Amino acid sequence: KSPYHSLMPLPKAELHLHIEGTLEPELAFELAARNGVVLPHADTDALREAYRFADLQSFLNLYYELMAVLRTERDFADLADAYLARAAAQGVRHAEIFFDPQAHLARGVAMGTVVEGLWAALGRAEERHGVSTRLIMCFLRDESAASAMETLAAAGPYLDRITGVGLDSAEVGHPPVKFREVYEAAAALGLRRVAHAGEEGPPEYITEALDVLGVERIDHGLRCAEDPALVERLVRERVPLTLCPLSNVRLRTVDTLADHPLPALLDAGLMCTVNSDDPAYFGGYAGDNFDAVREALGLDREKLRQLARNSFLAAFLEDDEERRTR
Ligand code: ADE
Ligand code: ZN
Repeated sequence: KSPYHSLMPLPKAELHLHIEGTLEPELAFELAARNGVVLPHADTDALREAYRFADLQSFLNLYYELMAVLRTERDFADLADAYLARAAAQGVRHAEIFFDPQAHLARGVAMGTVVEGLWAALGRAEERHGVSTRLIMCFLRDESAASAMETLAAAGPYLDRITGVGLDSAEVGHPPVKFREVYEAAAALGLRRVAHAGEEGPPEYITEALDVLGVERIDHGLRCAEDPALVERLVRERVPLTLCPLSNVRLRTVDTLADHPLPALLDAGLMCTVNSDDPAYFGGYAGDNFDAVREALGLDREKLRQLARNSFLAAFLEDDEERRTR
């Protein structure tokens, strides 16, 4: 691997990043000690050993378990600040950051603690790291629609800090249509809309996310490759996909990186972007994902620059306040 060809310096936007998925083992143990939480892992090496996943659910089990160490505003601020420092070092200039409030509310951590904590880091990110940011609140699709609606209500006092809503967690068996009313309510509040679809779930979930939830981007969207008519539609409507190549390998959605459909999707004319999803768990941040696809898929310079350009074109860079008062 020649350092001359590394894509770390290439300016990029990260559009698919779960802040809870940036919790590195070292910080997890530090926060555990600070908060008197006992983790069921001996040390950071033992924890890293657990990062061998069979599928999305086996990852989610560990992802939710480790959140136990996140208790205070300071914890969330430290988590976000550590991510922003690493992202900036990998060429990220703009980050749209997902968070999962239901996973914290369920543990007795208030919405205000989560949002104020994240905001403490995001508010100084431009100055400290040269990264502009947005917050996207995700609903857990394996929880009820009523719970999602309550979560949206709980976010009421913080909507000036939240750009949009997303949908994540266990996909299969939880189709987008389950959240129709929640997304209608979010749209009425002036929030942008995205959703995970076609990661483990079928291509039909992608169509449903577009038609029923009115999403502007599809998170993952990998399985659109199985439906040529859907690919054609996504191209025609210029729907961005926030692909996460290293995540797909670690969660066994693709066998190896060399089998990833990214080159085919790009050749089909899709607005693809490359992102890290849960970098602490999947072995790489945004720049690592760019370097990995260049290495494994042999994308040429023009294609890699296109991916970076797409990330800014697909970003929610518009001023939130301006949009809501229109
Ligand atoms: N939550 C965190 N990462 C996720 C992913 N890749 N898919 C669904 N839910 C998630
Ligand atoms: Zn994700």
